[in-house]
Parts: sequence; C-alpha cells; structure tokens
Amino acid sequence: MSNVSSAVRQQQQSKSQQAGSLPGHAHDAAPDAVQAPESQRTILAARDVRKNYRKGQNIIPVLRGLDVDIREGEFISIIGQSGCGKSTLLHLLGTLDHPDAGEIYFGGERIDNIASKQRDKLRNETFGLVFQFYHLLPELAALGNVLLPLLIGHGFFGYLSNRQTFRRRAVELLSMVGLGHRLNHKPRELSGGEMQRTAIARALINGPRVLLADEPTGNLDREAGREILDILRNLNANKNLTIVMVTHDEGIAAEADRTVRLIEGRLE
Ligand SMILES: Nc1ncnc2c1ncn2[C@@H]1O[C@H](COP(=O)(O)OP(=O)(O)OP(=O)(O)O)[C@@H](O)[C@H]1O
Ligand SMILES: [Mg+2]
Repeated sequence: MSNVSSAVRQQQQSKSQQAGSLPGHAHDAAPDAVQAPESQRTILAARDVRKNYRKGQNIIPVLRGLDVDIREGEFISIIGQSGCGKSTLLHLLGTLDHPDAGEIYFGGERIDNIASKQRDKLRNETFGLVFQFYHLLPELAALGNVLLPLLIGHGFFGYLSNRQTFRRRAVELLSMVGLGHRLNHKPRELSGGEMQRTAIARALINGPRVLLADEPTGNLDREAGREILDILRNLNANKNLTIVMVTHDEGIAAEADRTVRLIEGRLE
C-alpha cells in the first residue's frame, strides 16, 4: 500500500480549485459562506431530489425530497434497509441517472441537467464507481479492466500514444491494492476480494475527485471485506479522497467518519 497512484496524487493537488458554495437551504449556507477549511467545503450535494420508478401502472416513489451535503475529503456512509433507495441515490449523485425533480451539484455547479456528452466526460473524470458485484469485464485480465476507462476516455489513438504511461499507472494502482502479482488474471481467476480490489483500482485510474461505493463489501466474507474497508480508509486518510459508501450494515457504516440514514426517501 506504500505506492501512491500519481493519478490520485495529481487529483489531490488540484482539489483546492473547485469547492464552492451552493444555493439551497439556510443551514447549508453558513459553513460555506465563511472561509471554511478545505476539508469542510461541499464537493457534492443534492437539493430536494425526487425519484420515482414507473412499473406498468404503478409509480414507485423512492427519493422524496432528499438533501445531502458531502464535504470534500470526508468518508460518509449512507445506511438504509434493502430497497430504500441507496443505489438509486448513488446513481443520481454519480450522474448515472436523472432525478425527476431537484438538483445535484458538484463543486458548486449543477450537474444533473448538463448535456449527455458533457455528463459522460464529467463522470469519467470525476467519479470513481465501485459496485457490490464488481462489474468487471470477464474477457479482460485485471490490468485490462483497470485500463479500460482510459481507453474509453482517450479513444483508441489517444490511448495508444500514451499506453506506456497508462500501463505504468494501472500497474501502480493494482500494486497499491495488493494485486501486483495478479495483473494477468482474468476475473474468474481472482477471488471476490481480489475482484473488488481490481474494481477499486479501475475506479481510481482517472484520478477521481469522489469515490462512490455501492455495498463494496456486500458480497465478501468478513476478512476480505475488512481489506476493502482498509483500502478505502487509507485512500481517504492518506490521499484525501472523498468517499460516499452505501450499505445496509451498521458495522460497515461505522467505518466512515459520518453516517446518515436513508429513511422514507430522505436522509436523517
Ligand atoms: N428500474 C427500476 N424500475 C422499477 N423499480 C425499481 C427500479 N430500480 C429500483 N426499483 C425499486 O426502487 C426501490 C429502491 O431501489 P434501490 O436499488 O435504490 O434500493 P437499495 O436501497 O439500493 O436496496 P439494496 O440494499 O437491496 O441494494 C426498490 O423498491 C426497487 O424495487
Ligand atoms: Mg442497492
């Protein structure tokens, strides 16, 4: 864990530029309006966010006027029962889906209503996503999976002309998560914990500002889960990476600096 990703390092160095104050509720305005320390500024926020799903004739209300302020550099956990809307919220925060109403802000800028191309670029550069079931491509080795976001972000020729640098960065990240000896293993040749560590390396390859983790230990035994949480805590403490983790497990949630509860479509 001593090797540090240059991607993460560069990203941390440039952090101070973007935090900003947000429109919204009176109780949010004060800390941002006064010169808050860097670690206290809001990096990601939701304002009065509503989300329903439609299934045939039925409307399923999931988020019902949800507000949240995520501070730069914090490790926040969002806890709630199965089906309460945790994944839905994470997807909205990470621009994977749109709210029906309300707003999402990143660094003080609204991001829920931007054009899809711009949104894809923002997502690729800003958010690292980690899922319960890893979502690795089975035909690619660990190294290929970690390199994939660079191929997507830079296009084939951009990728080719930088491939040595990119490869070095990917190897560095895989080594950082303890997989320097598993670079050429395909997902089926990795354990669950190793697959999740590969997914974390992939999530870090573009130097994200925020890591969004959806039940990252949900499919792992206690020890493998502990290793994942150690990696997340290390990234937060030593690289100042902002982490939003959703879970239904109180013990896992307690690993974060702050826990909020998703109940009846709002956070408490
Ligand atoms: N595409 C969809 N269409 C219809 N209903 C959906 C859809 N996606 C989710 N839902 C419903 O919305 C609710 C919230 O789902 P969500 O996946 O956000 O819950 P969750 O809190 O992440 O649950 P879990 O802890 O089990 O992962 C659930 O009742 C689910 O059935
Ligand atoms: Mg979920």
